[in-house]
Amino acid sequence: MLENTKKGTALITGASAGIGAVYADRLARRGYNLILVARDEQKLNALANSLGEAGAVAVEVLRADLSTREGRAIVVKKLEQDDTISLLVNNAGMAVEGLVIDADPEKLETMIELNITAVMRLAAAAARSFAAKRQGVIINIGSVLALAPEILGGVYSGTKAFVLNLTQSMQIELAASGVRVQAVLPGATRTEIWDRSGGDINQLPPTMIMGVDELVDASLAGLDAGEQVTIPSLPDFADFEAFTAARQALAPNLSHNHAAARYKISEAAR
Ligand SMILES: NC(=O)c1ccc[n+]([C@@H]2O[C@H](COP(=O)([O-])OP(=O)(O)OC[C@H]3O[C@@H](n4cnc5c(N)ncnc54)[C@H](OP(=O)(O)O)[C@@H]3O)[C@@H](O)[C@H]2O)c1
Repeated sequence: MLENTKKGTALITGASAGIGAVYADRLARRGYNLILVARDEQKLNALANSLGEAGAVAVEVLRADLSTREGRAIVVKKLEQDDTISLLVNNAGMAVEGLVIDADPEKLETMIELNITAVMRLAAAAARSFAAKRQGVIINIGSVLALAPEILGGVYSGTKAFVLNLTQSMQIELAASGVRVQAVLPGATRTEIWDRSGGDINQLPPTMIMGVDELVDASLAGLDAGEQVTIPSLPDFADFEAFTAARQALAPNLSHNHAAARYKISEAAR
């Protein structure tokens, strides 16, 4: 267990590359000790060494494959047992290129294990531990595709819709607990995820692609501002608030004891 600092320890999944590695840098600068989680231990150690050289933070490396039950259990145990952990960045994720009917079903299942099951298990474990201390922060990395399933990747966007729904539901569940839960919805961000999934980020117009440093800095600015959902690219946050209000306006009519008039069928058609 790392020595307690005033800020405590941030556990970051998917810290060996991309968005997670930048969170590690920024949270170190903010005075957090770090626990870096991913599969590539060599990369994690290299990042831990460079962060250690740059500042006074203590960094621990935890190798785990979060697409497996065993890997998730290692990190859940850490969250349950390390009392210094005060922040979780639920960031590890993958994408799978291709249409639902064409993509390798095994890869899609692995993606669901990583993007959904791991996020759920870690968020739940952190929430239990943080609620007992009445403080703590959970950052769940979703995607703007949670709001735009028409664009691409039906299963990937579904996993990210799960992250958004889970986060918004946990915000209500934890409202009185002193625990904050933020969803971050990045748009296209220049990281390895595109190459790893067989996609090509350069097919997109450059005006749609954000650098990873800017993405993480904006996400942390959103956290500092108290936002519950941060969409770094969105120019006017009122657009998201209007979307949320329209969605919530459906609520009184989503469950009734009779079908709507347009579904009434005649006795003869039964
Ligand atoms: N880049 C974008 O355009 C974009 C847009 C929206 C949302 N996001 C989301 O942002 C998050 C971070 O993505 P990124 O763009 O930074 O991707 P990335 O550069 O590919 O990094 C992914 C990280 O997750 C780790 N990881 C992958 N599979 C893992 C597994 N089975 N177990 C444990 N760790 C695993 C990787 O490390 P190892 O390989 O060492 O395990 C790596 O550290 C993801 O949730 C992604 O869906 C990205």
